Amino acid sequence: MMKKWRPVIRNFPHMVHGADYNPDQWLNHPEIIEEDMRLMKLAGMNSVSLGIFAWKALEPAEGVYTFEWLDRMMDQLHENGMKVVLATPSGARPAWMDLSHPEVLRVNRNLEKNLHGGRHNHCYTSPYYRRKTAEMNRMLAERYKDHPALGMWHISNEYGGECYCENCQNAFRNWLREKYHNNIEELNEQWWTYFWSHTYSDFDEIEVPSDRGEHMIHGMNLDWKRFVTHQTKTFMENEIRPLREITPDIPVTTNMMETFEGYNPWELAQSVDVISWDNYPAWHENTRKDWEVAADVGFNHDIFRSLKKKPWFMMESTPSLVNWHRVNKLKRPGMHLLSSVQAIAHGADSVQYFQWRKGRGASEKFHGAVIDHVGHEHTRVFHEVKQVGDLLKQLDEVVGTNVEAKAAIIFDWENRWALNDLQGLSDKRNYEQTCKQHYRSLWRQGIATDVISQDSDFSGYHLIVAPMLYLLKPHVADRLKEFVKNGGTLVTSYATGYVNENDLCFMGGFPGDGMMDVTGVWAEEIDSLFEGQENSSRIDLGKGEKTYRIYDFCERVHPRNECKTLAVYDKDFYQGEPALTRNQYGDGCCYHMAARFETEMLFDFYEKICKESGVNPVLEVNIPEGVSIQERVSEDTAYYFIMNFTDKIQSILLPENKEIKDLAGNEVHQLQLGTFDVKIVKETK
Ligand code: GLA
Ligand code: ZN
Repeated sequence: MMKKWRPVIRNFPHMVHGADYNPDQWLNHPEIIEEDMRLMKLAGMNSVSLGIFAWKALEPAEGVYTFEWLDRMMDQLHENGMKVVLATPSGARPAWMDLSHPEVLRVNRNLEKNLHGGRHNHCYTSPYYRRKTAEMNRMLAERYKDHPALGMWHISNEYGGECYCENCQNAFRNWLREKYHNNIEELNEQWWTYFWSHTYSDFDEIEVPSDRGEHMIHGMNLDWKRFVTHQTKTFMENEIRPLREITPDIPVTTNMMETFEGYNPWELAQSVDVISWDNYPAWHENTRKDWEVAADVGFNHDIFRSLKKKPWFMMESTPSLVNWHRVNKLKRPGMHLLSSVQAIAHGADSVQYFQWRKGRGASEKFHGAVIDHVGHEHTRVFHEVKQVGDLLKQLDEVVGTNVEAKAAIIFDWENRWALNDLQGLSDKRNYEQTCKQHYRSLWRQGIATDVISQDSDFSGYHLIVAPMLYLLKPHVADRLKEFVKNGGTLVTSYATGYVNENDLCFMGGFPGDGMMDVTGVWAEEIDSLFEGQENSSRIDLGKGEKTYRIYDFCERVHPRNECKTLAVYDKDFYQGEPALTRNQYGDGCCYHMAARFETEMLFDFYEKICKESGVNPVLEVNIPEGVSIQERVSEDTAYYFIMNFTDKIQSILLPENKEIKDLAGNEVHQLQLGTFDVKIVKETK
């Protein structure tokens, strides 16, 4: 049982229900802003994110400041009971800035300078922009530090992208100098530049990996991505510094994007107080079932919770549709409440939208919003938003409770960069999908799962799943061994431990860096399969002997010492060789999946090994396909979120030995869930 965390917004022990609010688009329409206040209260909102992209409205010309509208907005919102998540405006810039200080404009991968326009197109190195953003943020903090509406800082908006300008190139070289101790020989060795005569004599010779000079040096590409993360992070820290100094009690967040590959979120997470992210799943697709989408969304939520292992903030979601999917589908009735509760179930203490009111023009005029162009509250979407507001009001007691996971999946950004960049195997590497496929097997059993990086603390877990952990950073192998030795269960797969943190292959056999001891196998070689080519394996995973399909990858492994072969390939020249092994190591064990198995196998496999390793579902009930059960816990209460992501009526019989109540305190024994329905029940311990 866990202690409760303080509410994300200080002294505000409620679920936050809010939206991006852009009154700077409506300054010529005071009547609209007046009406917004009425409608926000009616929708059960208690918060807005304000000032995102408002630089022009705050500084219309260099050195000319017009904060008055924001003063009025802060007061007006406060008078209407709203908290403000106040944004720094660095996500987009006014034309005057780009024209007078072109160094802020990004240079693209083709080494061409962008023109003014769009957003998120600035250079993170530009000394001018760093100075300017810090000054702007200082002014905001000075002005609103004592304002009662100020609840949290929203730093910029969805940082992302990279710049190849001269300033960035120089910064990259300096970053490399520091990493490689000013020793070019060390860099040459780690990048294996001896290949194709790429050996450098000096750091100054290094050019960035751009579209005009593809070096094929994987170590360089990796370092470039690390550098981009570093540059983004220090840009953000530069934004945060004046805010922390002037308003030390106001938490700071930046809204991140699902599994965005461009920077490593684990790095940015260290510099903020609260994790937030923007959640835009594509529901109701033609190729995937909604519950499959829901499992993937659960994976995303669990990443962001795991970043700090505490309640987090859903900064954006849409109340209806987006405008940037290939096909922009309306959320079916009920889905809005269900998907909002799903975030809460995975540890969010907020439901926020992009955006409050649809703009009249420009690119997002048809993006879903709480208030449509019609302007009033008599819409389906408004009604569903209000339902969310009504429900969130009943969830004060859940605020600050957390998720307790005994299982974890390693989905590691640096590993992902290396896997995606490697030349070899096949184009079916699909690291992200593979991690999600494993995750889904835990999700459908109702097992609380953290999604962690290879640098995360492994203690406290009973089960760690590490699919395709191709790149091993220093000490990770030792830490995994320690975990297993102390009784943990580890699952590894083909393509484990091939390279070090700079993409240099381990010598002496894969999985390298000592991982052969714990996995109990030497992986001699790996075969990639074409579409339509398959292998299979007969295994008894507690459901009787079944034949499971194998596709994409077959590694040829040799069990060592006591390692046991649990299943073998049915055909090809490696017929009879191990496809699945189990190695006892200290008090724990490691399963190695030498091949990529079909989902059905993973379902059966994880059911079996979760039981074995003492990883229990949050609620011991029979879970029908498409239903998700998640749990949040405090010191004395467990809250169960039972969510039906299908259009079928589902019924769940609750365990007889537990006293489970609904939010009103009435005992419940059985739950009936309609289409896209959700029930929240609790158990006091
Ligand atoms: C992102 C941005 C928002 C908006 C939405 C639209 O999350 O942060 O400004 O563009 O997408 O879905
Ligand atoms: Zn730059």
